[in-house]
Amino acid sequence: MATGMGVLALLSPLPVAPYADALRRAAPGLDVWTREDDAPPERVEAILAWRLQPGQLARYPKLRLVCSIGAGVDKLMPSDLPASVPLTRVVDANQGCEIAQYVLACVLGFTRDLGRYAQQQAAAQWLRHPVRAAAQCRVGILGLGAVGQAVARAFLPLGYPVAGWNRRGEPVPGVEVFSGDAGLAALLARSDVLVCTLPLTPATRGLLNRTRLSQLPRGAFVVSVGRGEQVVEADLHALLDDGQLAGAALDVFEREPPEASNWVWHHPKVIATPHIAAQASFDTVAAQCLDALRCARDGLPLPHAVDRAAGY
Ligand code: GLV
Repeated sequence: MATGMGVLALLSPLPVAPYADALRRAAPGLDVWTREDDAPPERVEAILAWRLQPGQLARYPKLRLVCSIGAGVDKLMPSDLPASVPLTRVVDANQGCEIAQYVLACVLGFTRDLGRYAQQQAAAQWLRHPVRAAAQCRVGILGLGAVGQAVARAFLPLGYPVAGWNRRGEPVPGVEVFSGDAGLAALLARSDVLVCTLPLTPATRGLLNRTRLSQLPRGAFVVSVGRGEQVVEADLHALLDDGQLAGAALDVFEREPPEASNWVWHHPKVIATPHIAAQASFDTVAAQCLDALRCARDGLPLPHAVDRAAGY
């Protein structure tokens, strides 16, 4: 790839080295800078980032592209991101697969009573409970993009009835698809397990509030792997406490990391993990960033370009 211009990797507070190294491996001739390198602003052609604040882009007059290191781009649209600078996100089949593994692990632990058996084991108690049939445990997936579909594909062969909700009602093989407000209410009413894989947009912020979570069947289990701001944590807490919800697995939070005193760390019905369900591989991030840069230079349509109006 041509030298002179280059890519600035701004990953703080994440470690930047693995991303910068992957870019250098994939394009040995390209200049790759990190925050410490004091990049010449007029040579920065693309920025690879996880989150951006207003004011961070103004100093790069030749910027033609911002690339996300992840699938979600909600923290990458500062108010001063010029309309002329496109934003791309990562679409990584392996990331979808890892999220599906995470969701499956949490849900199977719930449906197969692993928490209860762990308690029994601690008391050396041999007590057998009936297995809840997969057919009696309906899975509902909010968001049927690459990630939501990977989750659906993981559940289907195990016999779980799978439904999902997407914006336009596009069909997904093996999945009963709902859309719109009425569709959301119908999906919630039939979901014993609810999995949120949605992108964070103004329409999905606070979506899972007390009203909507109360529409789930009593005893439902919620898995949140989209963005923390989609679940109103205080409402979730109240519904777990009063038994409306049987449990939740949270990989994303309203504030990351949650304070040590936050109830999410300590609630007996909650599995809380530090945003680890999946991460796109460094090499995939680098390859897709460089591919987007080549397309931008050649005036070609950008793979995985974000629709700024839709927010994903
Ligand atoms: C992870 O949260 C991602 O957006 O890829």
